[in-house]
Amino acid sequence: MTSETTLPNQFDVVVIGSGAAGLYAALSLPSHLRVGLITKAKLRTGSSKWAQGGIAAAIAPTDSPDLHFKDTLTAGAGLCDPAAVRFLVDNAKDAIHHLVQMGVDFDRKNGQLAMTLEAAHSRPRVLHSKDTTGKAIITTLIEQVLDRPNIHVVPQAFALQLRRDEDGKCQGVSVLHDGQIRWIASGSIILATGGGGQVFAQTTNPTVSTGDGVALAWRLGAQLRDLEFFQFHPTALSKPGAPRFLISEAVRGEGAHLLGFNGDRFAFDYHPDGELAPRDVVSRAIFSYLAENAGDPANANVYLDLSVIPEEKVRRRFPNIIRFCAEYGVDVFSEPIPVAPAAHYWMGGIKTDAICETSISGLYAIGETSSTGVHGANRLASNSLLECLVFAAQLQNFEPAAPSELTENIVPKVITEHWRRETVKAQTIRADLPFLLWQSAGICRDQQTLDEAIAQVSAWRDQLHRMPFAQFLNLAEDAEIQLEHPDAETEIRLYAETCNLADVAFLILKSAAWRTESRGGHYRLDYAATQPDWQVHTLIENDQFRRSPLLE
Ligand code: FAD
Ligand code: SIN
Repeated sequence: MTSETTLPNQFDVVVIGSGAAGLYAALSLPSHLRVGLITKAKLRTGSSKWAQGGIAAAIAPTDSPDLHFKDTLTAGAGLCDPAAVRFLVDNAKDAIHHLVQMGVDFDRKNGQLAMTLEAAHSRPRVLHSKDTTGKAIITTLIEQVLDRPNIHVVPQAFALQLRRDEDGKCQGVSVLHDGQIRWIASGSIILATGGGGQVFAQTTNPTVSTGDGVALAWRLGAQLRDLEFFQFHPTALSKPGAPRFLISEAVRGEGAHLLGFNGDRFAFDYHPDGELAPRDVVSRAIFSYLAENAGDPANANVYLDLSVIPEEKVRRRFPNIIRFCAEYGVDVFSEPIPVAPAAHYWMGGIKTDAICETSISGLYAIGETSSTGVHGANRLASNSLLECLVFAAQLQNFEPAAPSELTENIVPKVITEHWRRETVKAQTIRADLPFLLWQSAGICRDQQTLDEAIAQVSAWRDQLHRMPFAQFLNLAEDAEIQLEHPDAETEIRLYAETCNLADVAFLILKSAAWRTESRGGHYRLDYAATQPDWQVHTLIENDQFRRSPLLE
């Protein structure tokens, strides 16, 4: 058992993040390597643990990887990389087999793995473990990781900044942990930091989803791709005082109806597939319905009616949803659930190649933080857990870069102060930014609102860069900091997350303003059509934006 609070200063490979991507990456790496797995909160924190609907795999006799391939490309709206999708669907069966072998307890029907239908899947192919599939997977992966002597797990260790050597290769990461900021030397760093839903005021994502990996990679100069594509899930609980808890699409897959104010099934007015149309279509249908019918659309909701599903099935399939709704006063058996859309999944991310390497030698990205090409402009439901596993499995023959040199005899600089006034300013930015993004880069976007938001976020970034905390993000490679004041670590962490959110907010807004068409998860009121000449990726490197052809 190697979950520890101590943090060595060198590893063969450092994995950042303990969701499905990070845990499976650490397990897939050859067992002779010294792997450091650092994660900024408790080990069991991240979107993976919250995954409900399940994991897609074409393993039913009525299904095939070809059909899964076709559905994924259709959902991706012209921007998927077919080779990456082919790799995903063809390796799904092995990934599931491995999970079952390790002990993940998927639901079964007549002794066979049970499958459900989700939107835009042409076959029922989503394996599940009640409505807590992510928890079932993560629990098993954590057990396995803690059993592996070569993996050194350090919770509450926040990755602040990455470092390159003079040849441009990734060489280390600075980490805020236990009252210290230190460089960890490693020639191979795997970012598995998850998504960035916290950039929006309404999100299904946990608080750790602040886009850190994308921000760190961007500041290091790595190429990013398609950041304007964010998926808004149509049905998050919408109840004053309650978090935007996800009401799984599987609930609609099992037959639940979306209802308007008069009990009308309005989804069919917007798409012939009604409730099971692609997510972006259903989210926009709700958005439009509320804009047309609610006095205050921003604070209104529609309803999800489960009464059409047999009660026994609801109890068996969705115990967690029943329990959570009850906690907030909604009895799903006697009333419909109030729901509204929320930011859910980031299709864009750090561009990676077939072996998960980014444009920077030695820097890798896996899971939601990456852009492997499998999701294109819109992700097919339940493909993301699968992506984490299938791509992480690639690491089994991993050969790490030569270990980077350790800087000897560092004398830590002792910092006794803390920064209450600046912290209050950073807190204000942290609180205001998601509301601005929700209003400007949410479900429907337009040029003027995007431009105004870019100006505001730029001003916030300038303010943040001028704060004394900036010294900790720009730490010299031979420096080490000892924080003496009890509040300093929390304050620096808040600052670093706020900087990351401001960076990714800026990049999402710029990307959304740049793409003058609508496609997948990106919808422009002023450019509502999909344009053939925009069937290209948005590629970002430092401050440069360019269109990149599909196969680059
Ligand atoms: P995460 O699981 O989010 O893990 C990221 C990790 O990185 C966390 O441990 C975090 O603490 C750590 N971290 C972040 N920044 C830092 C830093 N600076 N330093 C150190 N550590 C850091 N997908 C499906 O396929 N099926 C589903 O049913 C499904 N349901 C979902 C339900 C919900 C409510 C949500 C939010 C998402 C759902 N998704 C689902 C999407 C899917 O869960 C995620 O895309 C996937 O789990 C991402 O895994 P990950 O390992 O990349 O990131
Ligand atoms: C859900 O259960 O609706 C979420 C599934 C997903 O995001 O893939």
